[in-house]
Amino acid sequence: MYDYLRELGHVPTQMDRASRGVLDGVLETNSLPRQLLGMQLMVETTALTIFQAVREKRIEPVLADLLRYYEKDEARHVGLGVQMLPSMMKRMSRR
Ligand SMILES: [Fe+2]
Repeated sequence: MYDYLRELGHVPTQMDRASRGVLDGVLETNSLPRQLLGMQLMVETTALTIFQAVREKRIEPVLADLLRYYEKDEARHVGLGVQMLPSMMKRMSRR
C-alpha cells in the first residue's frame, strides 16, 4: 500500500485525530481480550468493510485488485478474534 500511495505521490504522514484516538485506546490496554476485541473485532472489521466497499466501486482498477489481497489478510485477523475471544471471555468475570 505504501508503494502504491508513493507512486500516486501521496503518502499520509499522520492519521486523523479520531482514528488515532481509537487506535491508541486499543493499543494502550494491557488486557489481551480487550486488545483482541478492539483490534480484531472492531478496527479490523472496519478496515475490511472499507476495503470491500472501495474495491466494489472499482474507482481505480489497480487499487481494486490490490485491495482483494488486503481483504484476505484482514479476514484472517478478524478470524483470530472470533476464534480466541469467546474462550477468553468465559474465564472473565461477568463485569
Ligand atoms: Fe489487519
